[in-house]
Amino acid sequence: MDFKQQVVATLHSALHDQLDDQQLTQLLETPKTSDLGDYAFPTFALAKIYHQAPKQIASDLAAQLDATPYEKIQAVGGYVNFFLDKVSFAHAVLTTIAKDPQHYGDAQLGQGNVPIDMSSPNIAKPMSMGHLRSTVIGNALANILAKVGYSPIKINHLGDWGTQFGKLIVAYRKWGSEADVKKDPIHYLVQYYVQFHEEAETDPTLDDEARAVFKQLEDGDQEVYKLWSWFREESLKEFTRIYDLLGVTFDSYNGEAFYNDKMDAVVADLEQKHLLKASQGAEIVDLSKYDLNPALIKKSDGATLYMTRDLAAAFYRHDQYHFVQSLYVVGNEQREHFDQLKAVIKEMGHDWADDIHHIPFGLITSGGKKLSTRKGNIILLERVLNDAIVLAKQQIAEKHPDLANADQVAHDVGVGAVVFHDLKNERLDSFDFNLEEVVRFEGETGPYVQYTNARANSILRKTTIQPAAEVALTDQNAWDVLKALGDFPHVVVRAAQAYEPSIVAKYALRLAKAFNKYYANTKVLVDDAELPARLALVQATSQILTAALALLGVQAPAEM
Ligand code: ARG
Repeated sequence: MDFKQQVVATLHSALHDQLDDQQLTQLLETPKTSDLGDYAFPTFALAKIYHQAPKQIASDLAAQLDATPYEKIQAVGGYVNFFLDKVSFAHAVLTTIAKDPQHYGDAQLGQGNVPIDMSSPNIAKPMSMGHLRSTVIGNALANILAKVGYSPIKINHLGDWGTQFGKLIVAYRKWGSEADVKKDPIHYLVQYYVQFHEEAETDPTLDDEARAVFKQLEDGDQEVYKLWSWFREESLKEFTRIYDLLGVTFDSYNGEAFYNDKMDAVVADLEQKHLLKASQGAEIVDLSKYDLNPALIKKSDGATLYMTRDLAAAFYRHDQYHFVQSLYVVGNEQREHFDQLKAVIKEMGHDWADDIHHIPFGLITSGGKKLSTRKGNIILLERVLNDAIVLAKQQIAEKHPDLANADQVAHDVGVGAVVFHDLKNERLDSFDFNLEEVVRFEGETGPYVQYTNARANSILRKTTIQPAAEVALTDQNAWDVLKALGDFPHVVVRAAQAYEPSIVAKYALRLAKAFNKYYANTKVLVDDAELPARLALVQATSQILTAALALLGVQAPAEM
């Protein structure tokens, strides 16, 4: 049923082995307008081989090709344009989807474990919009990679260790209250932390104290450790509320602290390979041959660092999961850190460093300003999600006052709106966050896609006629929907190869738009010979919109 493959085969049999199938597949283009056909083959690649002008080659080739399975084949300029046979295309797409909608678009791009380091917020701090991006992008990538054959492993590399815990514990002991932390953990912990920084400006001994306490923590002091573990637990409870709202789960919560007893081995290995250099009392790995700043492995006081933990984590994941790829969905501002991480592993002589990929993403701004915890310019994620649910509820109440499971639908629509808004932007783009914009039912939003799916479902609920793709729909609007449906498998592959969920989100918008145009111009439920075919189109659209949203981690309510 792969029509691109069919075109490749047609070309192959005429060109013999001048170009192989992979080259042909790569060369094939999708024309911008439908008068140029469904696939276009540019002949410039053959000009050198045949010593002829592309235009000449195109017209010779078009005459030579076997046009039987097509509506027509036409040469235009240096292109050979293929017009698919609408009847067989429509039939093939609709019957393939109907047979097994869940697995339509499944592929085997590869297999094996792919750990995905995602979300990874810091204990005792609010989860930021950046962590939201990491969570939803990581979750979507896990879904997409699973669909193309891999086994993703979602790892929350919690920021649960570091000098900030020295500060936090000093602050808690000076100004904190157990009852407050129990009541509203992150709120109070952040307050202590901020107070620490304010007071430390005039009292430098605080920093020394904090360093000493963190050293105690690293040395395993019982009482300090107990406080740390309590803060971790309370923070995790709050994070879990957000993950539950988002419907995201993890396979591992091994955070930075997990690697405390796993770093010595890495440091010893680095030493043995003569890669460690002393520099101003600290120990570094020189990476000048990679054009990178040195990687800091040990501080002057012997305390280990973010990098050292990530090294230990990389080795642990390699040994534990035998990964084929290891992904880190982390903001673009940490690009150098991951370049260094890979370079150090490479220096240690491990080629699997090449299987490590940093998947960076851009910043979310608010009113054009960068968000920052320190400056108090933060957006609290849980509030955003809950506000989105309230807004969704208002809109649903207007459109559909007697909806049975209105609360559940409001949840799916509100949360889905926030997630979709994040994923429809190319991951490296920065974008501004405006809640009203996000939850709108019109425009390029998640609710628009969800609403389109609900509309398709309501058509299907109104009839007892069974959908069937026996008769072919050939009008332009139906054809545009069919073409979009036929594209889904290619979209999944492209999204997986580029680690880019926005390709799926943009596709969902395109399919929804095509369907709405079809629906606006066609009376679906008229009782004529084409009715079962129209219903098949409606059903397939709903199934694929649902599948696309599911890849993004967004629910598709049947009514809203
Ligand atoms: N906790 C870090 C932060 O909030 C992100 C950790 C990313 N993962 C990693 N393995 N370094 O910036």
